[in-house]
Amino acid sequence: MDLIPAPRRVTRNGDGSYVFDSGTGIAAGEGTADTARWLRATLGAVTGLALPPAGEDGGVRLSIDPDLAAEAYRLRVTDAGVTIEGGAAAGVFWGAQTLRQLLGPDAYRRAPLPGRTWQLPLVEIEDAPRFGWRGMMLDVARHFMPKDGVLRYLDLLAAHKLNVFHFHLTDDQGWRIEIKRYPKLTEAGSWRTRTKFGHRASELWEDRPHGGFYTQDDIREIVAYAHARHIAVVPEIDVPGHSQAAIHAYPELGNRDVIDTSALPVWDTWGVNPNVLAPTDHTLRFYEGVFEELLELFPSTFVHVGGDECPKDQWKQSPLAQARIKELGLNDEDELQSWFIRHFDTWLSERGRRLVGWDEILEGGLAPGATVSSWRGYGGGITAAKAGHDVVMCPEQQVYLDHRQAAGEDEPVPIGFVRTLEDVYRFEPVPPQLTEDEARHVLGTQANVWTEVLENQQRVDYQTFPRLSAFSEVAWSELPAPAARDYADFERRMTVHYRRLDALGVTYRPPGGPLPWQKRPGVLGRPIEGAPPNV
Ligand code: ACM
Repeated sequence: MDLIPAPRRVTRNGDGSYVFDSGTGIAAGEGTADTARWLRATLGAVTGLALPPAGEDGGVRLSIDPDLAAEAYRLRVTDAGVTIEGGAAAGVFWGAQTLRQLLGPDAYRRAPLPGRTWQLPLVEIEDAPRFGWRGMMLDVARHFMPKDGVLRYLDLLAAHKLNVFHFHLTDDQGWRIEIKRYPKLTEAGSWRTRTKFGHRASELWEDRPHGGFYTQDDIREIVAYAHARHIAVVPEIDVPGHSQAAIHAYPELGNRDVIDTSALPVWDTWGVNPNVLAPTDHTLRFYEGVFEELLELFPSTFVHVGGDECPKDQWKQSPLAQARIKELGLNDEDELQSWFIRHFDTWLSERGRRLVGWDEILEGGLAPGATVSSWRGYGGGITAAKAGHDVVMCPEQQVYLDHRQAAGEDEPVPIGFVRTLEDVYRFEPVPPQLTEDEARHVLGTQANVWTEVLENQQRVDYQTFPRLSAFSEVAWSELPAPAARDYADFERRMTVHYRRLDALGVTYRPPGGPLPWQKRPGVLGRPIEGAPPNV
């Protein structure tokens, strides 16, 4: 049956099958209407069947079994029909995703092929996720992904039973969300006049404007679309670093006593940017205004405030920042950043939300309510979990999907480490340094897709797939220790999964390497320090 991610238990009940046909209906028990709607829309389109409400028996029957965990499900196919029981609405929805896989790769198309029939094997499947946070981060700041592409990615996440979409909405190179009270954030901050093509060392430029942003109604649509797929959207507004686009729009947010911030453009190249927010009351009030609008739009418990890669040089030179350090009785600039993040930790907690930030928020002291996205390896996550804080494991050495997926000359715009499909399959989110109690603080894991060198959807697809498929199994399935994982079996199942991805129109990296038009000869990436180029 070649399911990905692998379920906990599958029992085959003989060689028979149940056939979806014009007599097949859907019976939606209480609390399962969203999955019934999704099945009708998705399987209805591809099969051409109406899938009307079912009668007393037969067809596809959805129900809640409160004895199961919320995201767990039981799926049974008999010659009379299909039953899906979930611990809650989410479990029923994940069961429906498995049902789609059982129908075969063509079930991932959007319209019927002539003569196609839809047969399900007689099986019983019991399944539940390992982690509650199974995420992907998408950077829409470096290169904008239009709304329909974002909705498509939500479908791709749902197809892999991933349930968190971390939406990196702001950075030095662009501000991507409409904020009504600060219109210049998008008028001026959502586009740049040109873009470095390749990584920083590249001499190539894309000499045309790049931009785009989501209106508040676009965001509402994205959030509702995700919600219907049991995906939480965690928005990220990156502060106090990675903020040059905001400073371009509102120069008073920058360190005006150090540089002329009114001369800063939306940044057109890549890297860690020295132009950071000024630690003033004005900046705090400004971002409270941003977060007020954000909380109206995003119902998620978690709100990401970035906190990564904030160079302290301007604060060291700024009389105003130094006076603030003195006035607050702080020891240094790291503690000043910590003060800044703590302000928003308190502010979000007072509104019933939880702050999450990149692991640099540990420096200068972790805010009391903070959850840590551990990206510079496991270290930040280990420190945070040992201190009783929750953690999302997303180490760049393992699950940064912008990094190249093979050695050699052919990978397009090669970045950082070589991380193959097998490497991602053998990624373990819980490090051995944690005790069982501490490990409970690992909420889960996410793969991060940064887009400096991913200028369009095809490039995002190429870097993300097939590795996100392997990642989904790491996040969902109960796998043995990395060395004991049956990668050969995963590869075998992938031969079918590639056909699902084909049907979905995903331009993944083929197992044999990039197709001619997927290469980017001559465009420099960011090789590992000391290694020869493109290795
Ligand atoms: C990051 O990669 N700067 C979080």
